[in-house]
Amino acid sequence: MRVHVFETSDDLGRAVAARVGDELRRNPSAVLGLATGGTPLATYGELRRMHAAGLIDFSPATTFNLDEFAGIDASHSGSFRRYMDVKLFDSVNLDAHRIHFLNGVADDLDVECERYEKEIEHAGGIDLQMLGIGANGHIGFNEPDETLAARTHRVQLHDQTRRDNAAAFGGDLSRVPTEALSMGMGTILKSRAIVLMAIGARKARCVERAVNGPITTRLPASFLQLHRDVELFLDRGASSLLVRPA
Ligand code: F6R
Repeated sequence: MRVHVFETSDDLGRAVAARVGDELRRNPSAVLGLATGGTPLATYGELRRMHAAGLIDFSPATTFNLDEFAGIDASHSGSFRRYMDVKLFDSVNLDAHRIHFLNGVADDLDVECERYEKEIEHAGGIDLQMLGIGANGHIGFNEPDETLAARTHRVQLHDQTRRDNAAAFGGDLSRVPTEALSMGMGTILKSRAIVLMAIGARKARCVERAVNGPITTRLPASFLQLHRDVELFLDRGASSLLVRPA
C-alpha cells in the first residue's frame, strides 16, 4: 500500500480530487466507485470547484456508490443518494443514466443486491474505488464479523456505525436505519485501483491494523492488503500510529 500523509483534511481532499481528475483524463469513461460520510466532503468540494473551473469533465464517466441505507428512499435527507446529490451530482455534468445507486426501498432487497452486482459487471467493473474507513475498520458497510460477504448484500448495521451516522437523522439514533445494502468485499477488491481516505486520530488504530495487522474478518479493511493497487490518503492524526522511516 502506498501511503500519502497530509497536514489538513483540505489538502487531503485536494489530493484525492486530483487523483480522480488524473483518472478521468487518462480514461474519460472511467467507472468511479464513490463513498459518502464526513471524510470525502473536502474531495467533493474540490471536484465541484474543478468542474466549475472547467478542469474536469464527468460527462462520459459512470459512478456506483458503495452503499445505501435500507428502508429510506432517495429523497430522504439521511439517504446517501441525497448526500451525493447535494455534495456532487447536482453540481457536475455526470449523465444521470450513468449514476448508479442501491435502492434501499426496493421490493426485494436481495434481488436489488443482485441487480447492482450485475450492473457493475456490465459496466466493466470499477476503475477507481474511493473508500472511507469506519472506526471499527469497516469499508463500505462490511462490518467486522466472523465472516464477510463477497458480493453486494444486506447488512445489519453495528450500533457504533448507527451512532456515527445519527447526525444525518437529526441526532436521533432511533431514526437511523438498522439495515443497509453494501457492495461486498469481493466487489470492492475487484476494483482496478483503490483510494482509501482517513481523517483524524480516531481512525489511527484501525488504519495501523489495516496496513500492518493480520488479514481478518474482524477488520474488513485489512483485506486491502491483498490488492495490488491501494493508495492511502491520511491526515496526520489518522497516520499517527504508522511507523514511518526516519
Ligand atoms: C460510506 C461508507 C462508510 C464510510 C465510513 C467512514 O459510503 O461506505 O464505510 O466511509 O463509515 O465514515 P466517515 O467518513 O463519516 O468517518
